[in-house]
Amino acid sequence: MRAVQDAPQIVRMEPGDVEVVSGLEAQVSPAPWSVGIFRDCLKAHYECWVFRLGEIAGYVIVSLGPGEAHLLNIAVAPDQQRRGFGRQLLEKGVTVARQAGAERVFLEVRPSNLRARAIYEKAGFEFLSIRKKYYGLPHPEDALVYALAL
Ligand SMILES: CC(C)(COP(=O)(O)OP(=O)(O)OC[C@H]1O[C@@H](n2cnc3c(N)ncnc32)[C@H](O)[C@@H]1OP(=O)(O)O)[C@@H](O)C(=O)NCCC(=O)NCCS
Repeated sequence: MRAVQDAPQIVRMEPGDVEVVSGLEAQVSPAPWSVGIFRDCLKAHYECWVFRLGEIAGYVIVSLGPGEAHLLNIAVAPDQQRRGFGRQLLEKGVTVARQAGAERVFLEVRPSNLRARAIYEKAGFEFLSIRKKYYGLPHPEDALVYALAL
């Protein structure tokens, strides 16, 4: 039974998950989303998925619009990184977008975030443009916009 419970799986984020998810976010993001933002994502019916390995080890959030999707957030717990979970979460986000009929997936990423850029580029995302001063305090930075054609 335990082995089944602990088998990694990507499942929908539930309202009861947002405390753990925002705790994880606080560990990995220079400008973490609050619990309220995660709740709003669920209320807005964004595609919110968690990577479960017993505990929640990561999450991905995608908003869907006509013909396109936006990857809003993705993260893996610090002690679970470099195990392929980020890549699997990214694949999930892309699959959800494709199934919804999106033709392109967009995302913003900090130029300094080389790890995230590496998984996006490996997944086929291409640099599109720079958004000046996209990220505000406490860590102001431009954003790189990436897009993946589906
Ligand atoms: C970006 C992030 C989600 C990647 O998750 P992950 O589970 O570590 O990624 P994976 O194990 O699937 O790595 C896939 C590839 O990414 C690259 N990568 C991942 N971690 C890396 C690291 N520490 N250094 C260099 N490259 C790395 C590698 O190319 C790796 O390929 P490999 O398997 O050949 O090594 C994770 O680092 C994270 O949560 N970062 C903080 C939150 C964040 O920045 N989110 C993105 C906001 S835009």
